[in-house]
Amino acid sequence: MEIKNLVRKNILNLKPYTSARDIYESDKGILLDANENSWGSTFTEINGLNLNRYPDPHQKDLRYLVGKYLSVGPENLFFGVGSDEIIDLLIRIFCDPGKDKAIIPEPTYGMYKVACDINNVETITVLLNDKFQLDLKEIKNHYDENVKIIFLCSPNNPTGNLLNKNDVVSLCKELNSIIIVDEAYIDFAGDGALIDEIKYLPNLIVLRTFSKAWGLAGIRLGYCIANSEVINYLFKVKAPYNINSLTRYALESSLKNSALKEKYIKGIVKERERLKNQLETSSAIIKVYESDANFLLVKCKDGKAVQAKLAEKGIIVRDRSTQPMLENCLRISVGNEEENDLLWDEIKKLV
Ligand SMILES: Cc1ncc(COP(=O)(O)O)c(C=O)c1O
Repeated sequence: MEIKNLVRKNILNLKPYTSARDIYESDKGILLDANENSWGSTFTEINGLNLNRYPDPHQKDLRYLVGKYLSVGPENLFFGVGSDEIIDLLIRIFCDPGKDKAIIPEPTYGMYKVACDINNVETITVLLNDKFQLDLKEIKNHYDENVKIIFLCSPNNPTGNLLNKNDVVSLCKELNSIIIVDEAYIDFAGDGALIDEIKYLPNLIVLRTFSKAWGLAGIRLGYCIANSEVINYLFKVKAPYNINSLTRYALESSLKNSALKEKYIKGIVKERERLKNQLETSSAIIKVYESDANFLLVKCKDGKAVQAKLAEKGIIVRDRSTQPMLENCLRISVGNEEENDLLWDEIKKLV
């Protein structure tokens, strides 16, 4: 499969912006080429950050640090302002507005469709099967040469389950499309990651984020792992300095704290199972689905009533009932122990 045959012509022909640090790569010397403030920065709380200078447009140390952590080559990594930025960039690289299409197996994360709509890219909805797994036959039935991207999410938001790995691999092998697998919640699953598969599947792109297990939603940092050709197109279209220096600083410091991340994961997974067992005993609840993520999908007798009762007590959960197959379903993030106890105290009172 030739990735370049899937790329929009204007992106293939694009002459990207060249920043000052593209022409003179070092950040050493007397830098009078980027109209920065050589006198200093007004942010003085953290020494040595050099916030008066633009950040590295090549994301060199981020790619090195995270690559080392994941045992992935830096040439296979690209960072975005959250994975949401990468979703948008990938649509812009591969989908001609008004012509190309994306397939989205639903119910799933809403941003895939919104990002396609913003870019005027038609979306084709294919339902997941009754186990919330891919319906390969239906996906293939809806596939044609204008389908440039298929969005998959594993573990899937909001159903919580991992997708069957063999299904994803077979789609990558059989279809001439980019297959994006969003692994935002993979740290809570224990298994099922697809990053090793990028070595032999050129059309597979795995999306990750620091917003969930790492507890860094506020720094807005997501990344993707893909073959180096895809990574080069992402660098071609991104804004020159998309990842800011404060984010980079927070990331480097957090990577040293990976033991804390592991502790969070262990605690959240334990609480997820405790909460699931409790919720299953409630007469207001019909089903609590198995989860490989940091949330539970809960089918209630009357989802909106449960949501409203909880909201009265200041407990906010997400109504997912407007999504296909999710009538009366709420998505409840697993909180800390105290939050989960308060949630259960209120749910216990419902009938
Ligand atoms: C499946 C999925 N992907 C991506 C994101 C967004 O990630 P980020 O914060 O990196 O933009 C979310 C956020 O809830 C999500 O559920």
